[in-house]
Amino acid sequence: MKTHKTYEPTDRMISIIRDNYSVLQSLESFGIPLGFGDKTVEEICQSHYVDTFTFLAVVNFTTGGYFDAKSMASRLSVTTMLRYLRASHVYYLNHQLPYIRKSLKDSLREDDELGRLVMTLYDEYAMEIKKHMKYEERRLFPYVQDLLEGNPRRGYSIETFSKHHEETGAKLKELKCILLKYLPQDKEHSHLLTMTLYGIYNNEEWLRLHAEVEDELFVPAIRALEQRLLESQVTQQITALMGKTESELTDNGLSEREKEIIVALVTGMSNKEIAEHLCISVNTVATHRRNITRKLQIHSTAGLTIFAIVNGLVDLSRLLNEE
Ligand SMILES: [Fe+2]
Ligand SMILES: [Fe+2]
Repeated sequence: MKTHKTYEPTDRMISIIRDNYSVLQSLESFGIPLGFGDKTVEEICQSHYVDTFTFLAVVNFTTGGYFDAKSMASRLSVTTMLRYLRASHVYYLNHQLPYIRKSLKDSLREDDELGRLVMTLYDEYAMEIKKHMKYEERRLFPYVQDLLEGNPRRGYSIETFSKHHEETGAKLKELKCILLKYLPQDKEHSHLLTMTLYGIYNNEEWLRLHAEVEDELFVPAIRALEQRLLESQVTQQITALMGKTESELTDNGLSEREKEIIVALVTGMSNKEIAEHLCISVNTVATHRRNITRKLQIHSTAGLTIFAIVNGLVDLSRLLNEE
């Protein structure tokens, strides 16, 4: 059931549940207990340390309200999302899967070969889901936890996860089809089987939405977090390099000729071009370059460029214009 309404922090939680009973399952995973009276979403989220924006993003996304992944990604709380997804797995693996298994078993005839085959199919399905979720718990969630602590792990990224994040419901579809189309009628158990089927449909929808929240909310939020970390690392590296050139290398004993060569180098000239420009031999240019490296302990053109800017040998805007 989808209302296509977009909920706000000032809406009462009870109205959201009245409109969309499926949100009950999300409430549990967010760690919000029942018994909230007439309180607003904002009041309830704050009292349970849940980020209101992230809670509403999940609710609006799963109930068909307004959703814009791009603009939302960097505002989502990764901590809240991580806690929500972890709790969703516990809810599904420890409660939903055993619950459906029990009701399926009760609705089939005992000592029946067909019934046993149906149970085998269900167990295979449960195993597949378990494998999928355990992978996320073992590989993805610890990776995200490290990102949150500012320590990105090497050799893994959200893109790697995203590429291999597959649908898991094929076996459940098959099971439903068998129950609906091919299982012989058994009047004694038919009402139980109908209820079980209803539960299976509900389960299927839950799992589909869970995967969509991962793909459309969690993955973009992690991508934005990775980007922020990368930017701050680059800034730190540049600051460290500039700190070195400023503090240690301003009085470096460079000759005027060596400074001219640095300027020529950072504006992109080759040794031959520098030789022609300064009317000296290519060998002399090479000797000057060796001396510059020895005096500054800077080997890269990027490092020399920073040195030249910090020490006023070249103007940044001039360099940019020349590119
Ligand atoms: Fe998951
Ligand atoms: Fe998943």
